[in-house]
This record gives sequence, structure tokens and C-alpha cells, in this order.
Amino acid sequence: MIHKRVGILTGGGDCPGLNAVIRSVVRKGIDDYKYEFLGILQGWKGMIEGKTRSLGLNDISGILHSGGTILGTSRTNPSKSAEDMETVITNYRRMGLNALIAIGGDDTLGVAAKMSQNGLNVVGVPKTIDNDLSGTDQTFGFDTAVSVATEAIDRLHSTAESHQRVMVVEVMGRHAGWIAAHAGIASGADIVLVPEFKFSLDDIVKVLDKRKKRGRVATIIVVAEGFSLPDSDLITQDETVDAFGHKKLGGIGNLLGEMIENKTGLETRVSVLGHIQRGGTPTAFDRILATRFGIKAIELVHADIYGNMVALIGSKIEAVDLQQAAQKNRLLNEEIYNIAKVFFG
Ligand code: F6P
Repeated sequence: MIHKRVGILTGGGDCPGLNAVIRSVVRKGIDDYKYEFLGILQGWKGMIEGKTRSLGLNDISGILHSGGTILGTSRTNPSKSAEDMETVITNYRRMGLNALIAIGGDDTLGVAAKMSQNGLNVVGVPKTIDNDLSGTDQTFGFDTAVSVATEAIDRLHSTAESHQRVMVVEVMGRHAGWIAAHAGIASGADIVLVPEFKFSLDDIVKVLDKRKKRGRVATIIVVAEGFSLPDSDLITQDETVDAFGHKKLGGIGNLLGEMIENKTGLETRVSVLGHIQRGGTPTAFDRILATRFGIKAIELVHADIYGNMVALIGSKIEAVDLQQAAQKNRLLNEEIYNIAKVFFG
């Protein structure tokens, strides 16, 4: 059997299930193929700075259920500078890598696609709680984020009822409404606001009035952080952008809460779930999906098939073109939104 030295990195925002991927890649790679693994620390930053750790069977033991990533992560973007791109390529060769498995969202995998075009043997694994990567029907981490948000919203129902209040819950998802729609449907939200579909303050008031007519005041409104009211700007925490040009979203929940209270006189409270959705142990579904992705990724390395991303297509794990998958975001579809909408009011 041909010996291979394989690098693994985790980049972008962390997400439950990263360790499950690392574990399955290393476990199968060592047991079945006798490969050697090098953990690249903090995503692409580790490839630029040459920071690594060895990854043996004992290093991946007991990490399946743990959140975060044992390799650390960062939002470093080497493709911003020709010099950094060159350094990554040089370090790949210096580390003696035969292949690199990059686990990340659209940013990390976008860089991975560029590295692949530059001749590196790369396999991508799709992660993000936002579920907004094209090329795969689902990313791991999403199911956990939806479960955490659903549990939180379940808890808000009883306090909303006791006080006869409107509860606005802001969830993550960047420019996609997947978490909001799924958690909204699962928790019985009365309104779900997502970036992909327009909904005005008047529309919200109409729903509240409709509820009032049947004696219902307590209302749960789930809003995605990337939602904005028609003809209004996206609400951001400040003006800064990260290395991939992303603004820090957040704040729409508080703004809406204030607007609703002012317009209707109904007592309104706001909860922002934030990074709680991203931390902690993955659900069983995410553990299994992440494990399946990891196994497929190392199988692709073994078969010398590169420039691909592993993906969930229907119920099967397949390889899709990495560049195409990283090119554009997958937004919430009308089918799911319309299901959430049935329960508005
Ligand atoms: O992409 C995952 C995500 O959690 C988004 O939902 C959110 O907008 C962003 O990352 C937050 O980024 P950071 O961890 O840098 O605050």
C-alpha cells in the first residue's frame, strides 16, 4: 500500500461535529490505509505559519461528542495575498503532505478550491451551522444549531404566556434563513422572519391583530440575524468586516422588539441566542453525518480523487466539484418558508 501523509484543517466559525470528522478520517486512515496524519492548527493560519500537531489514534480518542475543534480555527484568508498563497503551497510541500482535507464553510472551501487549482491535492468537507453551502443537501452542525434554538424557543413559550408578551428571538444564519425557518417550524413560532422573503412591520402587526382577535397575545417571533425590513439596511454590530469581507450581523431582534412595542403597545422582550447555537456537543444526526463525511473524504484521498467536496445528496454521501460548491450560497427555499408561513397568526 502506498504511504500517504495527510493534513487536516478546520477553518471558519467552529461548529458541532468538527471533531467527529477528524476522528473518522484519522481512524479509517490509520486502521485501513496505514496513513500518517498532521493536524494543521487554526485553519489556513496554520498553513501560513507552519503550525501543526501530530494526529494519532490516541489524539482522536474520546472526541466524538465534544464540541469545537481540537485543531482550533480562524477566519484567516490566504487568498487575499499572493505571498500567503505561495507560503501555503511551499508549506504543503515542506510538510511532505500528499493530500489536505479542509473542513469548512464557503470561505474555507473557497480557499481550498483555489489551492486545488494551484496543484495541491485537496478534499473539502462542508460544515456550517448556517446550512448555506451549495453542492450538499445539508451541512453538519446545522441540526445541532436547530435543536439548540428549538429548545430555547420552547422555553420562551411558557414565559410569553405567563406575561402575555411578544417574544422576539434572534437566531444566526448569516444571509440564509435555514436556522430560523427550521427552528421556527419545530418550536411552533407564530412568525418567522428570514432574509430571503419580505415581511414588513405592517405585516407583523397584521399577524398580531389576527392573533388578538382570537384572544391570543403571547406571540413568538423568530428572526434570522440577516433579515431586514423592506427598504431598510442590514443591521450590523459595527462597521468592521472579517478577512472574507463579512460584516458582523446582529441587532435586528432588538430593533424589531422596539418597533413592535412602539407600534402596538404590546409588551415585548428580545432574546439573542448568538454563539450558544454553535457551542457544545453535536446531535446524534450531526455526529453521524460528520462521521460519514470523514469516511468519504479519506476514501477519496485513498482513491487519489481530489478537487472535490464530500456532500449529502438525498440520503447518499457523494463527491461534488469543490469549486462549484464553494461558489455561491444556498438560500432557504420557498417550500420550507411556506410551511413556516402556514402557522403565522
Ligand atoms: O457562519 C457561522 C456563523 O455562526 C454565522 O451564523 C454568524 O453570522 C457568524 O458565524 C458569527 O461569526 P463569529 O463567530 O466570527 O462571531
